[in-house]
Amino acid sequence: MSVGKEMPRVIALCSGKGGVGKTFFAVHLAAFAALQGKKVLLMDADLGLANVDVMLGISPQGSILEMIRGEKDLQQLMVSARQGFDVLPGGSGLYELTTLDAEQQQVMMDEMRSVSDRYDLVLIDVAAGIGDNVLYFVSAAESALVVITPEPTSLTDAYALIKVLSRQRGVKRFMVVVNQAEAFDAQITFRRLVSVADRYLDVHLDYVGHLPYAAAVRKAIQQQSLLQDQDSPQTKQALDVVLESILSRPRDIHRHGGLQFFWEHSLNEGLSAG
Ligand SMILES: Nc1ncnc2c1ncn2[C@@H]1O[C@H](COP(=O)(O)OP(=O)(O)OP(=O)(O)O)[C@@H](O)[C@H]1O
Ligand SMILES: [Mg+2]
Repeated sequence: MSVGKEMPRVIALCSGKGGVGKTFFAVHLAAFAALQGKKVLLMDADLGLANVDVMLGISPQGSILEMIRGEKDLQQLMVSARQGFDVLPGGSGLYELTTLDAEQQQVMMDEMRSVSDRYDLVLIDVAAGIGDNVLYFVSAAESALVVITPEPTSLTDAYALIKVLSRQRGVKRFMVVVNQAEAFDAQITFRRLVSVADRYLDVHLDYVGHLPYAAAVRKAIQQQSLLQDQDSPQTKQALDVVLESILSRPRDIHRHGGLQFFWEHSLNEGLSAG
């Protein structure tokens, strides 16, 4: 990395509960940032049931497994989405990677580090659940973005994830977006999560907005395309507001996640070499 180049912002999207809208959010956030001229990498960190490629209608040329085995490098696996950003496809049914071991995590870090100076923003679409890979990817990122819905199961699962991340991995700040809810319900949902988190955990939750439930979202996903203004102007506008709110957040430069650590490390190398 050249000295002076800012480290890419790395945001991990997580939820605990599956099917709440992480991938939907991740692809729109990537496209929104690309439209603003940012260089974006969207990494599908679901190594068991990847679906970024499906949602975007792109065909991966391989899986992260080949990268871990050293058969392909990250550059060879990368696919360009027509919306102007790069995608690192996850895997489907990669039982071998259910839990990345320390060596595999190292390969992942090194590969990410090798391309870090090309990007302004790296988005990590993390799998559902609270497995080791989920904890690894979220704690390696600069910021964690938790997607929740008003369903009680979404709240309990998000709480469980936040609890494990804070107690075991030292992640203390979380952005929270409420999907499939109108503004009032979204506020109530967020406050529920905050009230229980404030009581039992030492964390800071930061509300970044909400997105209503809309048939147009399902339709866009079915057509493997992104939501357009004409699909539902209101929903598209709500989405743009949330995405802008996320991207305009101050950087969390004091977080020392793994991916960040490597970028800082490479920056230090550059400084000592110069
Ligand atoms: N705002 C919304 N309005 C209507 N439907 C939505 C909305 N957000 C998500 N959905 C529906 O929820 C489904 C799941 O969304 P998505 O695949 O993004 O969830 P996910 O959290 O990534 O799931 P997984 O945990 O399986 O990776 C979508 O296919 C879509 O039909
Ligand atoms: Mg998903």
